[in-house]
Amino acid sequence: MSSPILVTGATGFIGREVVRGLLMSGRPVLALARGRDGQTAEQRVAEAVGVIPDGRLLSVIEGDLTGRGNCLGEAERVDLRETVETVIHCAGDTTLFPDAMESFRAGHIDGPVKMLQWLGSGRLRRWAHLSTAYVCGRRAGTMFEGDGDLGQNFHNPYEQVKLESEVAIRRIGSRLGIDVRVFRPSIVVGAAPKTSGGNPSNLFFHFLRMVAALPDLTNSSEVTLRIEAAPRARFNIVPVEYVAAALVTLAEHSDGARGTFHLVVSDAPTQEAMLAMIAERFGVRGLSLVDCRRARIKNPSPLERLVARMLSTYRDYLEQDVHFDDAGAHRLLDRCGVPPPSLSSQAVGRLIDLAFEGRPAIQRFPLDLRSYA
Ligand SMILES: NC(=O)c1ccc[n+]([C@@H]2O[C@H](COP(=O)([O-])OP(=O)(O)OC[C@H]3O[C@@H](n4cnc5c(N)ncnc54)[C@H](OP(=O)(O)O)[C@@H]3O)[C@@H](O)[C@H]2O)c1
Repeated sequence: MSSPILVTGATGFIGREVVRGLLMSGRPVLALARGRDGQTAEQRVAEAVGVIPDGRLLSVIEGDLTGRGNCLGEAERVDLRETVETVIHCAGDTTLFPDAMESFRAGHIDGPVKMLQWLGSGRLRRWAHLSTAYVCGRRAGTMFEGDGDLGQNFHNPYEQVKLESEVAIRRIGSRLGIDVRVFRPSIVVGAAPKTSGGNPSNLFFHFLRMVAALPDLTNSSEVTLRIEAAPRARFNIVPVEYVAAALVTLAEHSDGARGTFHLVVSDAPTQEAMLAMIAERFGVRGLSLVDCRRARIKNPSPLERLVARMLSTYRDYLEQDVHFDDAGAHRLLDRCGVPPPSLSSQAVGRLIDLAFEGRPAIQRFPLDLRSYA
């Protein structure tokens, strides 16, 4: 059997998909995870990953990257040093404004750096590092995969620490002769757990359910709803299946060595086009985006205030006009037979279906919107 790939963050939104993908392709996986709420790491990973083709391919080791909780013992480290050739590092706290910066930095920077250092003294050859396209911070325009620290300002500590983490891991990797590959998804959507990383996707689905509910709850298909955003800017979401497939495919591919890859939808629709697709699907008229860089919404209705509050956490990303160039990822994944993700109206239709999967009726939006319309 080939040496197992060590995956961190296997209980998370992206990590669980990566583990599934590796197991489906017959690769043994060693998942590093935390125990919590009376459950062992093994139980939590099993629950997150679900049914797998061959249970013998998956083993779990308990550990916390901050070094605070359950740390790996020396015997476990020796064992990992002697077996692991590739790490896919998916663990990370996606809180945009963390309360405790010290442990946040430890989880994103100090912990992974220490792990790279001790694994790097053994058999380790590659470290696939999950970052974010938003290491670009507040920059606007086209971002290239080779862009890094250009002195940009950030919307939040999360973006800044993710960039610092990339830089630190690359520095240690090059010192130790480890091939570090950086993967930068935009905002990941799909069937997401209720984790911090699943929040943007769950909010997007929540928004879809709200739009679907509007005609019934207001007894009209014409609902005035103005949302502050950047109408002509791209709506930068990417399906989780593509992100996981890209990680599984490129983590060890020889042509991916030392690369940085944007994992995005190359021709993502504008926010305006996305809203039009959603409105058309549900037969709702009257939804519009107001370019907040030119004007603010005057006299918002209660419904408009409710929606603004609902979207407030990700408001910065609705206002930013940014395009992520993914030429490198696109070229390589195309050669490997991984189809590029799409946000065509058909693909958006599939995402919408997913938002309603398992729900008895689309009208089940948990709010009485009549009082807001
Ligand atoms: N979701 C997105 O839209 C998105 C977009 C771009 C980039 N990313 C990046 O992708 C990575 C994964 O995000 P996600 O969406 O999968 O987040 P998630 O669903 O919140 O999962 C985070 C995972 O990291 C683990 N983790 C966090 N801190 C840890 C620590 N100190 N020690 C061990 N494990 C720890 C969590 O374990 P527990 O279950 O024990 O908490 C969980 O398995 C992050 O680095 C994030 O920055 C995410």
